[in-house]
This record gives sequence, structure tokens and C-alpha cells, in this order.
Amino acid sequence: MDTKPIIFSGIQPSGDLTLGSYIGAIKNWVELAEDYNCYYCIVDMHAITARQVPAELRKRTVDQLAQYIACGLDPQKNTIFIQSHVPAHAELGWILNCYTMYGELSRMTQFKDKSAKNADNINAGLFDYPVLMAADILLYQADLVPVGDDQRQHVELTRDIAQRFNGVYGDVFKIPQTFNPKVGARIMSLSTPENKMSKSDKDPNGCIYIMQKPEDIMRSFKRAVTDSETCVRYDTVNKKGISNLMQIYSVATGKTFEQIENEFVGKGYGDFKTAVGESVVEMLRPIREEATRLMSDKAYLEGIYKEGAERAAYAANKTLRKVQKKVGFVPRG
Ligand code: TYM
Repeated sequence: MDTKPIIFSGIQPSGDLTLGSYIGAIKNWVELAEDYNCYYCIVDMHAITARQVPAELRKRTVDQLAQYIACGLDPQKNTIFIQSHVPAHAELGWILNCYTMYGELSRMTQFKDKSAKNADNINAGLFDYPVLMAADILLYQADLVPVGDDQRQHVELTRDIAQRFNGVYGDVFKIPQTFNPKVGARIMSLSTPENKMSKSDKDPNGCIYIMQKPEDIMRSFKRAVTDSETCVRYDTVNKKGISNLMQIYSVATGKTFEQIENEFVGKGYGDFKTAVGESVVEMLRPIREEATRLMSDKAYLEGIYKEGAERAAYAANKTLRKVQKKVGFVPRG
């Protein structure tokens, strides 16, 4: 039996994978993969809380699988699957709805942000989405959930729901912990460094995508917003743009902030932005090349997601059956 602690995390296939998701989440997944029993999900059910073009969603879902593997997630060692292929997520999600309070969901900052941005489509799924996320995590009895800063509140809610349920029925769910990276938990937009880097950024230069061409990446970095000083110094209050670039450069090169500050003493922002852009291009190059190769191998990818769903369903159904019994559903026999 595998006794390693368990990790669960996921990303929505609602757009191409961004540098923010790579640094805030996937890169850490790869680093944690050896020591944990890991489940990595492509959360297509979450993605439909915003309107999607069906053919594009289908393509992005499978492309995202190729990109996970290209980022270094070995499908033999990790269970990689598509959320809608494991019906237990929806089933547990419904049950947990009945143990989650309206007030709790109303306080979710991401719901407030997203409903302000999509005022014409504030659907019940968007409101309820953190409960589905709780089901994702709790089904696998996850110990650790490696995510960026913006998902921390949802993991906190997951813990509250699990504790409430356990309080009524005994120890059914493991209480998960969030794992945030020390550097890069919140990568900011290159063009508006007050805001998180996000696929919904209106300025195309604000967001970097892991599959982007080197020349496009370089252009966005060269246009990155900085400040009126000329000094590369880490200060997230007064120098948001530069501090964000320093975080990205630190992750891409392994250098500390002090080393970065020393490296650019007496040099202008132009040199710094070029160096950051080049470091990102080099970090992403092997991923883009491998993902491009894998994306054309549909049969291979299908084999991976089918096997992943089988393995995931096996673990998920164990928890689901236990929960169903606890709440008083008649066993199927
Ligand atoms: P999503 O798809 O918006 O983002 C995927 C992951 O990337 C992180 N991230 C960032 N990290 C740092 N800086 C950024 N600019 C940045 N942008 C995104 C996110 O924090 C996240 O870790 N609800 C989740 C998906 C999900 C999930 C789950 C995650 C569904 N079920 C269960 C963990 C466990 C979401 O929408 O992430």
C-alpha cells in the first residue's frame, strides 16, 4: 500500500496556461511529486462557470494534459485526469453543498471579483464553485494542496467544511493544508502590477503564456511597467513592477533577491527587463517543445487520461461511499 502523503491540485482549462499558474502551482507540483502520492486534475467542470466555446474547451483540456506532462509531471508517478471523467466530484459536491453556508460562499473574494467582471452571467455554479473545489480535495483525503495565493481562501473554506462534516459524523475527511511557494505565490500582471497575472487581463502584454513564442514573451517583458527610479530593488509597496520581475527572475534562475540586486547595480531597467525575459524564454523553451510534440499524439494522451480517471475514481469512490453511508443513503448493494 502507498503510504506517502497525498497531494491534490487542479487548474481550469478556461484559457491557455499562464506563467502565473506555472510559477504559483505547477512548478511546485513537479518539485513535490517524488515525496507524495499526487493527483493532478484538469478541472473542466469549474471552467464552465464562465461561458466556453465547446470545441475550444475540449481542445484546451487535452492540450493542458500535454502541458502538465511537458512541465515534468510523470504520468506513471502521478495520477493525471479530467475532472468530468470522475462523477464522484459532482456527487460529493452536492452533498457538501448541504454542509456549506450561504454566508460563507458570499464572503469568497474570488466570487466577488468574478461576478463583478461577468455581471451578465453570475450563475449558481460560479457562486457554488468553492464547494466543488472542496469536493475535489476531500475525495482524495489530500494532506497538501499546492496552489497560488488566490486559492488560499478556498482551501480554508474546504477545511471548514471538512471540520463541520467530521464534527457531525466522525473522522471522515482528512483536513488539508495549503502549500504556497515562498517566491511566486502571486505573480502580477506585467502591465498593471497591482493586479494578479491572469488570462483575463485586457492588455495582451500583461500575461505570459507557457506556450508563447520567445519573441512575444520578450516583447511583453520589454514593455513591462516599472517605476520612475532606476534601481533594481525589492520593495513590494513602492516598486510593485520591479519586485514582480525580481520574483519571476528569481524563480527562473534560482538567484536570491540580493544576488539580483547586486547583478543590476548601475544597469538600467532595459537591461534588467531583457534579462528577465530571456530567463523566462529559456525556462519555458523545453516545456513548449515537449508540449508541442505531445499535443499531436492524441492516442497517447487519451491513454493517459483514461488510466488517470480509473485510478482517481478508485480512490474517490472509497471516500464517496463512506460519505453516502454517513449521511444516510441506502447502499447500492
Ligand atoms: P486557476 O485555474 O485559476 O489557477 C491554477 C493555479 O495557478 C495559480 N495561479 C497563480 N499563482 C501565482 N500567481 C498568479 N498570477 C496565478 N494565477 C493562477 C492558482 O492559485 C492555482 O493554484 N479553483 C482553482 C482550480 C481548482 C483547484 C481545485 C485547485 C479546482 N479544484 C482543487 C486546487 C485544488 C482555480 O480556479 O485555479
